[in-house]
Amino acid sequence: MTLIGAEVLSKLNKKELRVLQGIEVGMRNSEYVEVEMIAKFAGYSVSETERWLRSCHKMDLIHRWSGHFVGYELTIHGYDALALNALYMKNEVLSIGREKGVGKESRVFYALDADQQEVVIKLHRVGYTSFQHVRKKRRYTANKRHISELYASRLSAEEEAKWLQKAIDLGLNVPKLWVVNRHILKLELIDGIDLVKLKNIPEPMETLDEIIEFIKTCWQQGGFVHGDLSEHNIIMRHSDARPVVIDFPQAVPVDEENAFELLERDILNVLTYFDRKLGIKAEYDKVLEYITEE
Ligand SMILES: Nc1ncnc2c1ncn2[C@@H]1O[C@H](COP(=O)(O)OP(=O)(O)O)[C@@H](O)[C@H]1O
Ligand SMILES: [Mg+2]
Repeated sequence: MTLIGAEVLSKLNKKELRVLQGIEVGMRNSEYVEVEMIAKFAGYSVSETERWLRSCHKMDLIHRWSGHFVGYELTIHGYDALALNALYMKNEVLSIGREKGVGKESRVFYALDADQQEVVIKLHRVGYTSFQHVRKKRRYTANKRHISELYASRLSAEEEAKWLQKAIDLGLNVPKLWVVNRHILKLELIDGIDLVKLKNIPEPMETLDEIIEFIKTCWQQGGFVHGDLSEHNIIMRHSDARPVVIDFPQAVPVDEENAFELLERDILNVLTYFDRKLGIKAEYDKVLEYITEE
């Protein structure tokens, strides 16, 4: 496991954590945070603060910048450490296991919660550029002088939590959402296999129907579209061979400019997959009409 933020946690002392928190708070207002600011927040002298900054720097938890002043920012590892520490403190997570999957914009790990139940934690990893590319700048960065990768990752996690919760409230077949902290979601572990990796689907027609119903329910009752639906974001659960939809940060409300386009793309992704892989042909126009009919 190369999750630095998790590996260092047992080594970090309270003061180092406090210094990291000071940087986090300072980063709300500026990209780099001056030592004096960090010291003030932590309640330590500048020289003591510098000592803990040095040790955090060695662990790759912070990045040092020298320009017209010397400033610090958290690295993604420092941010991981803060979020994981919070999850431990709140007894949401007991330990972290091996990596389950590396997605386009996340890392997913097995973890144990306080009841020794296996869960997954999803750490969002959204680059500044890709975030800007996907999201409308004015909606998310208004009043922000800068937007860091950490901030983008947190917003992405919050978006995912919001839409996933909506899907849960609609009774759809999705993972339970236990908690969100910063850019990390704690989710129900779906014991199954990604649709894309499956050689055979036992009941392909039923599976396709259920996915179409999922899209329809989100669109009609939930007022949103998943926006990244494909064989990569559907897990076929072992216990009941039913499709479970994951990965919600790209979802948008139906009244968003590009919502209909995303709906069309989601439907097309699914139909194309079932056609190419399983030879099941469904008429695109009819499916779209069924999903959007009043
Ligand atoms: N709740 C879950 N249960 C089991 N596996 C999961 C769960 N969430 C994600 N995964 C695994 O991790 C991979 C990446 O997660 P995903 O939510 O799709 O993130 P990304 O946006 O990075 O694609 C998935 O393809 C899946 O294999
Ligand atoms: Mg995915």
